[in-house]
Amino acid sequence: MVDRKKCIGCASCTFICPNNAIKIVDGKAQIDPKKCVKCHACENICPVTAIKIK
Ligand code: F3S
Repeated sequence: MVDRKKCIGCASCTFICPNNAIKIVDGKAQIDPKKCVKCHACENICPVTAIKIK
């Protein structure tokens, strides 16, 4: 999930996602849980550690 208070909308996660599961909505990242393959790429690239994949 994305911590919307932390996310700065840099879009790095949208580019790194191998399955195109993340979009920027209202300036914040939003993950489509149906598309997420839990690779943790977004978690690792986020500069403000706004994403936690369980
Ligand atoms: Fe940027 Fe995505 Fe983090 S938009 S701030 S890498 S949640």
